[in-house]
Amino acid sequence: MTVDPKKTREPKRRIHHFAMLKQRSQKIVMVTAYDYPTGRAVDEGGADAVLVGDSLGMVALGFPDTIRVTMDMMVHHAAAVRRAVKRAYLVVDMPFMSYKVSEEQAVMNAARLVQEGGAEAVKLEGGREIAPIVKKIVDSGIPVMGHIGLIPQSVHKLGGYRVQGRHEESADSLVLDAKALAEAGAFAVVLEAIDPTAATEITAQAGIATIGIGAGRGCDGQVLVISDLTGLNPDPAPKFVKKFGNAFELMASAVREFGHEVRSGEFPKEQHEY
Ligand code: KIV
Repeated sequence: MTVDPKKTREPKRRIHHFAMLKQRSQKIVMVTAYDYPTGRAVDEGGADAVLVGDSLGMVALGFPDTIRVTMDMMVHHAAAVRRAVKRAYLVVDMPFMSYKVSEEQAVMNAARLVQEGGAEAVKLEGGREIAPIVKKIVDSGIPVMGHIGLIPQSVHKLGGYRVQGRHEESADSLVLDAKALAEAGAFAVVLEAIDPTAATEITAQAGIATIGIGAGRGCDGQVLVISDLTGLNPDPAPKFVKKFGNAFELMASAVREFGHEVRSGEFPKEQHEY
């Protein structure tokens, strides 16, 4: 069945919906977006939340990792997504080193993402060690989503992109991280590349909504990168990705056809002239 988004009566998603959906055992849907058209598609596709992720660096800007992404880049792209998103809750990533220098720096940068980028909440990577920073941002009136497990901004410290929480000690540590974030006032937490048993345990114990990516079925919701789920990224995808479309081929074949018709003189026709 196809759902016409304009005909759904779903209300504008707000912060309280995350706890509400968790409590009702209704899954939370979050998808990344980086510009006006992807923001529009995700919003009209009915996602509960749109994430302007710092995956922007790889997905939209062609960098090898998220570490090169700056505050100015996040503000610029968040503002474009903001202009597109009407119904979903808009979360924007705080990029590398934009919140770890001092609590003051963290609050000022979170404020920029809200004021200039139009974010309704900001997302920070880290567990217990960033709880005081999370508390400071939340106390300043800005909602925070946490992000634990495989935290790409710390890829050099983690020693690569590895699944987290496979051993009891590391699973327990992730539970403590999620609880610390909840206590600091975070309203939800992304669980990235976490063993599914550990992710289920975190979901049971954290007290806030968990949104998984490569963390199995036991989370309160799921997030995927827009170009992965639509197939706009033609590269081989990681195991946790399911491609729901073939956007890259759709676009490339439209360009091929356009080129063919221009070269053959078939396009433009009289009907395309003023
Ligand atoms: O930057 C991003 O896209 C993210 C998701 C992978 C959760 O943080």
